[in-house]
Amino acid sequence: MYKLNMPGAVFSGEQALLSLDDLGMAGENVCMITDHGVIKAGVADRVLSALKQAGAQVRVIDQVPPEPAYQDVQRLATAFAEGRFHSLVAVGGGSVMDTAKLCSIVADGGSVKELLQTPGKGKKVVRTVMVPTTAGTGAEATPNAIVAVPEEQVKVGIVNHQMIPDAVILDPEMIRGLPANIAAATGVDAMCHAVECYTSLAATPFSDLYALEAIRLIFSHLAAACLSPEAMESKAAMLLAAFYGGVAIQCSGTTAVHALSYPLGGKYHIPHGIANAVLLMPVMRFNLDACAERLACIYDALAMRGADAQIEKAQAVLDRMETLVKQIRIPSGLEAYGVKRDDLEDLVQAGMGVQRLLKNNRRTVTAADARMMYRQVLN
Ligand SMILES: NC(=O)c1ccc[n+]([C@@H]2O[C@H](COP(=O)([O-])OP(=O)(O)OC[C@H]3O[C@@H](n4cnc5c(N)ncnc54)[C@H](O)[C@@H]3O)[C@@H](O)[C@H]2O)c1
Ligand SMILES: [Zn+2]
Repeated sequence: MYKLNMPGAVFSGEQALLSLDDLGMAGENVCMITDHGVIKAGVADRVLSALKQAGAQVRVIDQVPPEPAYQDVQRLATAFAEGRFHSLVAVGGGSVMDTAKLCSIVADGGSVKELLQTPGKGKKVVRTVMVPTTAGTGAEATPNAIVAVPEEQVKVGIVNHQMIPDAVILDPEMIRGLPANIAAATGVDAMCHAVECYTSLAATPFSDLYALEAIRLIFSHLAAACLSPEAMESKAAMLLAAFYGGVAIQCSGTTAVHALSYPLGGKYHIPHGIANAVLLMPVMRFNLDACAERLACIYDALAMRGADAQIEKAQAVLDRMETLVKQIRIPSGLEAYGVKRDDLEDLVQAGMGVQRLLKNNRRTVTAADARMMYRQVLN
């Protein structure tokens, strides 16, 4: 038995933002939640205008920090609960969307700290609408919200199906001016979601469908979306690919790339997309034999050419990923982020703690394997 949970409605494409008018918000008390970077980029204003045009009374909460800790989310959730809003519109990347999703299930009196232990306790009390402004996390499609737990130097995923949003708006104008480095890091995050979900032991026919299409779109459009400011067709394709990657996550699960990258976010505050991008190739090379059949399926589905044997096809898919990551200028090591060789054992221990995702990896990862992969990115 397989299950596919989807947001209530998804609006995608040019002018998708105007569909806020179809959501029946006239006269409603609406909270728009966002962050300073998104405000500065000018995109939050567009949503504000569309909400006002739809007849909503809007209050803005704009203090979401990048990759928030649960205490940050709690502060914002308390402010949110006091407003007694009908709807919550998140305008931002994964940090904003995860914060909004958590606010929506703790507004009836629970706490985010409690959800770390018992995620099922949260009950949703408002309508949620996600307007992603990065093309990466797919948080607009998942029941997950990720928060840092600073006292333990880790990041933790809270999973509650009520956090799947009521509506999603994928409007390419939201990412028109996304800086190239953020487009690259978040775009590789989407590629990791799709490739990990497709090669995951938890893959299902539903996740295969969405992951494959995400990979096809990303292979064709990631570079242009990052490197050509006016490539709106590619940016629109990346927004869709990121959403598909999110759908794939909720009916499959990511694997060792995400597992080993978690400590890099929790302890060293390396942005989620960069952490995954750096570990992607070491993990995929480690997985090559175990995932050869699945990787060769990607090769065939995308009508790639030049290889015959299964292992050659699998290698060609890895080569394509490696070229893309280089093309969009993602750093290949961690030294720039202050991670040192002395940190190796802490990383191994923390990475091995993420069994929730490691168990999905097609090749068993031992502590010695994790050490070998971290070594490759610690020059
Ligand atoms: N819930 C999930 O399923 C899921 C999946 C993957 C990652 N995540 C989480 O999402 C967070 C990362 O999200 P992210 O990668 O989208 O980055 P982010 O939300 O942290 O944003 C990164 C930076 O980009 C800026 N920004 C966003 N949109 C912009 C735009 N259009 N123009 C200019 N600047 C813009 C933001 O202000 C911020 O400074 C992490 O906490 C990660 O753990 C969640
Ligand atoms: Zn991710």
